[in-house]
Amino acid sequence: MIEPGVKRAYDEAMSSGYYKRRRGLIGKYDNVRTFWEDEIIRISVRPYIKKLEEEGEGRIKVLDMGCGYGDGYEILAKLSDNLEYKGFDINENFIKEAKRLYKDKKNISFEVADFSAGHPLKDDYDLYFTSYGTLSHNDDEQNILLLGDIADCSDNCVVLCDWLGAYSYEWQSLWGEEWMDYRISYLPESGNETFPLRLMTRENILKMVSSLEDT
Ligand SMILES: C[S@@+](CC[C@H](N)C(=O)[O-])C[C@H]1O[C@@H](n2cnc3c(N)ncnc32)[C@H](O)[C@@H]1O
Repeated sequence: MIEPGVKRAYDEAMSSGYYKRRRGLIGKYDNVRTFWEDEIIRISVRPYIKKLEEEGEGRIKVLDMGCGYGDGYEILAKLSDNLEYKGFDINENFIKEAKRLYKDKKNISFEVADFSAGHPLKDDYDLYFTSYGTLSHNDDEQNILLLGDIADCSDNCVVLCDWLGAYSYEWQSLWGEEWMDYRISYLPESGNETFPLRLMTRENILKMVSSLEDT
């Protein structure tokens, strides 16, 4: 079951113009994201990309789940020029824009799909990628289903799970909460729509992993 507010909120962000690929002090791709957050993701994923490159024979097959405009490609392409990238997202407007942005790249494809009821594409990738809190859209049961399906599809792969942390410095008033009611906040005029996002702890992650091992 998808929260109806999710699509409305992202559509609202898109039509504000501040969800566009442009650098600066405000908007989705602000300087904090571009010069800090993207770089921190690259630092974490770099050793795995290197290993996949050393071990693999062909291109590194990447699936970016909840890809937005193909944001994972922008992050990963600075680490390897050997990617076969596919992105999916539930929001068809994002996928339309992603297809437009990358229409000339043969190694990139996109489709509309939903990760709330398991791995929608049921095929095998070297790297299953998420970024910027995307898996916080799911509850733990949905994530167990998704990760279990991925394990069934692939004998040897890397899965990068990105959740919102429960103990963020920015949201101290939420410490101890399991969910937040999120409003896309980097727009100059905040949108009206909110939707729930899971705030994840290390304990929750370990609990999910051990229930995966039991199945
Ligand atoms: C926080 S945004 C991150 C977008 C992008 N990965 C980035 O790095 O900026 C979360 C994305 O997940 C998508 N999403 C939410 N629920 C989804 C679902 N059930 N299946 C697929 N995508 C979903 C949203 O439409 C949105 O594009």
